Amino acid sequence: MAKVSVNQVMNGLNGTIRIPGDKSISHRAVMFGAIANGNTTVEGFLPGEDCLSTISCFRKLGVAIEQENEKVTIEGNGWEGLEEPSEILDVGNSGTTTRLMLGILATRPFHSVVIGDDSIAKRPMARVTSPLREMGSTIDGRDDGNFTPLSIRGGTTKAIQFQSKVASAQVKSAILLAGLQSDGVTSVNEPALSRDHTERMLEAFGVEVQRDGLTVSVEGGQSLQAQHIIVPGDISSAAFFLVAGAIVPNSQITLHGVGMNPTRSGIIDVLQQMGAELTIENERNAGGEPVADLTISTSKLKGIDIGGPLIPRLIDEIPVIAVLATQAQGKTVIRDAEELKVKETNRIDTVVSELTKAGAKITATEDGMVIEGQAALHGAHVNSYGDHRIGMAMAVAGLIAQGTMIIERSEAIAVSYPTFFEHIQQLQR
Ligand code: S3P
Repeated sequence: MAKVSVNQVMNGLNGTIRIPGDKSISHRAVMFGAIANGNTTVEGFLPGEDCLSTISCFRKLGVAIEQENEKVTIEGNGWEGLEEPSEILDVGNSGTTTRLMLGILATRPFHSVVIGDDSIAKRPMARVTSPLREMGSTIDGRDDGNFTPLSIRGGTTKAIQFQSKVASAQVKSAILLAGLQSDGVTSVNEPALSRDHTERMLEAFGVEVQRDGLTVSVEGGQSLQAQHIIVPGDISSAAFFLVAGAIVPNSQITLHGVGMNPTRSGIIDVLQQMGAELTIENERNAGGEPVADLTISTSKLKGIDIGGPLIPRLIDEIPVIAVLATQAQGKTVIRDAEELKVKETNRIDTVVSELTKAGAKITATEDGMVIEGQAALHGAHVNSYGDHRIGMAMAVAGLIAQGTMIIERSEAIAVSYPTFFEHIQQLQR
């Protein structure tokens, strides 16, 4: 277990960085490449631990995958190319690997076992295993298939019309993937729109996807054709530097090539509503996803209310939004965010406990948190609890805190942003 010390930045953060590849899109590029026909090539891949777990699982399923830093080649042989693994499929810390892969395994006529780390073992899987069972797959695991280790014997599946209780792209994607190998039309309806990378990338791989408001449908029997995928920068990683640029005095940071998919860009809405000095330039398209360059400067901020359909558009950014809110004048209320309780940690608990240690005025609510600004933060001994986004949010807090922020279990940051501290250093030169 590693720990790291972060000191207050005196002379601002200045310069330009290129944000590493999007985690959600990197996972999908590998998985869709693995079930496609032909060689899929990926550039801008995120070589973070989560995406490496996806590569390792699909190699165990018999797919040849070459990876060197941000370049990946996947030799797909169609759905039939997947083979019964002789080893356990270890997803590490990755919820996306677990849930999307279950959707694929549900349709394969063989047995496999999925495990992950301590955090994965606590995350609810019934949200995918129960609809996949309804489709005809045999899945078992602790608590009647809700927790890992899970065992799956897939096979012939039938289409379903699924009404999801949660706005979750992982649930939506798992069912749509299984639907591609099922008889008939499978549809998923969700209470609010979750990220749509699966829909976009399936279309890029030649699949027909029907979208109608909050419902997405695919017809069974469609195959995927290999593609070249360009992965944009991850807006969820950019969020740490957008917040740092806005709250560290004397800063101006430019972030190149940030994915601006509207189902992910809630952090931009929040920064704009809080009054941040943010400019968006060079809006363009990369591999079916909108991309832009963002520049953020030290800003005078005000507290706002965050809830409703905005929540799925910024769910992963809430830990760092809480840090941002400590530096805004007035109250920020985050509501409708119960899903935070089932992320890598219970992020309502971990954000509130760790920011409180650093002097923030923050209270937990049933579905979110309330933050009173502006609070002077101070150094503290905090813990990521193995959650990459809690580790990075506390590092950003450390940049403005008086004294030193010591962060335990900082190794977790490599899950999504292995070069995070290098980028902080780069901006201090
Ligand atoms: C993800 C979807 C989100 C998000 C996670 C990545 C994805 O989870 O929090 O970090 O790649 O589909 P849910 O689908 O559970 O909301």
